[in-house]
Amino acid sequence: MSVHNPDIKRVTTHTIQELKNKGEKISALTAYDYSMARVVDAAGVELILVGDSASNVMAGHETTLPITLDQMIYHASSVVRAVKRALVVVDLPFGSYQGNSSEALRSAIRIMKESGAHAVKLEGGLEVKESIVRILSAGVPVMGHLGLTPQSIYKFGTYAVRAKEEAEAQKLMDDARMLEDIGCFSLVLEKIPASLTRQVSQSLHIPTIGIGAGPDADGQILVLHDLLGITKDFKPRFLRRYADLSTIITEAIAHYVDDVKARDFPNENEAY
Ligand code: KIV
Repeated sequence: MSVHNPDIKRVTTHTIQELKNKGEKISALTAYDYSMARVVDAAGVELILVGDSASNVMAGHETTLPITLDQMIYHASSVVRAVKRALVVVDLPFGSYQGNSSEALRSAIRIMKESGAHAVKLEGGLEVKESIVRILSAGVPVMGHLGLTPQSIYKFGTYAVRAKEEAEAQKLMDDARMLEDIGCFSLVLEKIPASLTRQVSQSLHIPTIGIGAGPDADGQILVLHDLLGITKDFKPRFLRRYADLSTIITEAIAHYVDDVKARDFPNENEAY
């Protein structure tokens, strides 16, 4: 029942732009490992983000801050080996690009060279402009990320909706225009009011990808483990769960344990 567009052979940043131009919504998901990335890619999403949310869902950290560049490259190279069609974008982790554009460039080049990914994403507006310009000048496509930027969680103090106040909404709009002007190919908008997403998406030419940002972004992204119901305790309003894999996996494993205990597994057909 896949609805992916069979005309798209390999998704590029240009494909993503064309989808916006013709008014077709862009589907994006995170992935962090080879096996899941194969499934996600075959199911037809156009963009796979190797998000620094790996810090949460893969490593069990409370925030995205601890994950390292080496760890992101490990996840990204596993994903790249699996993906045949989607555009693979990789998060630059906290501390690998802020405040030093030379280091930002070095980090982006390591990701591209060592993982084989197609683009990088980083969080922030004006504060990281120099880093983005430097990365773009090396020919590396950059995706921006505004609104709730989890690498700044200790500045925000909360994961609540951002840019509800006029001043913050105006800064977000200014940052979005600046990111487009300097050459970002796309922009993630996280947890902002739907009306602001509509305004930003209508005034930019590049596609916006929303998470908790309402229906008017040019595309949507979710964390794979949230969509599949593997992370059970995370229940934000914006999340739609498409499966309850946590229950399915638990039941399957409990069944296996029972079979082992009952000496039912392996049977004679499952032995040599
Ligand atoms: O790291 C991540 O998963 C992300 C998405 C939430 C956009 O940045």
